[in-house]
Amino acid sequence: MAPLDPHKMPVHLAVIMDGNGRWAQQRMLKRIVGHQRGAETVKMVVEQASLLGIKYLTLFAFSTENWSRPALEVRALMTLLKKYISHETARMMRNNIRYNIIGNRSELPADVNETMDKAIHKTASNTGMVLTLALSYGGRQELCQAAVRLAEDVAAGKLSTAEITTELIDSYLDTSNLPDPDFLIRTSGEKRISNFLLWQLAYTELYFTETNWPDFTINELQKALADFQSRERRFGMTGDQITQRGGLSNA
Ligand code: FPP
Repeated sequence: MAPLDPHKMPVHLAVIMDGNGRWAQQRMLKRIVGHQRGAETVKMVVEQASLLGIKYLTLFAFSTENWSRPALEVRALMTLLKKYISHETARMMRNNIRYNIIGNRSELPADVNETMDKAIHKTASNTGMVLTLALSYGGRQELCQAAVRLAEDVAAGKLSTAEITTELIDSYLDTSNLPDPDFLIRTSGEKRISNFLLWQLAYTELYFTETNWPDFTINELQKALADFQSRERRFGMTGDQITQRGGLSNA
């Protein structure tokens, strides 16, 4: 594999970490063991992404739909998330990484929210990579919330409908402080978006691998990034237009 070009890294990498359950079931282990192993992969990807100069990493850690899993699994996932966040904060400080959360935080247990708030506060002035965890997150729910707030602002006279642009809608989303993802990786062979960042993924390059998340390695990450670097992003333009502009950098 050719070495990665540091100037063509995705600015924003998003990941759907899938296949923890299947990884465990294939080994006759409890599903939560798959999530525990998945948390080890999270550590590796966070560290590598930051070393590779990726500015924003967004991980789909718990979806709105995941609440309908068995209560025991939901509880175990919440405990794992809390542990990860509190244990990893020191490493985040060393690596200059800032925590960010998107999703409906009001649905999360109070102790998980408290741990998040501490970690967000502690890492707030870090200037390196922004690590966003999508928790109790759903793309449609996020868009619904944005529509409600927009409608309220129009009704209150703060805004006229003529002012509604794509940029304005961006500013009403949970991701208002993040650029759109350049690259999305989904593990475990499923080829779906599953209600993740529906608006923001409009021009994102998609990458699917058969590997289950706990087996996703540094090599796999590099292979995925090499694939990204080999693509021509056209954003609706023609290939010739892109060449004339001297290429649209992946950045
Ligand atoms: C999908 O696998 C994964 C999840 C629903 C949770 C993701 C959580 C982690 C990777 C661990 C903790 C996260 C952090 C940020 C520390 P699945 O259970 O849907 O797998 P399956 O499709 O094989 O059943």
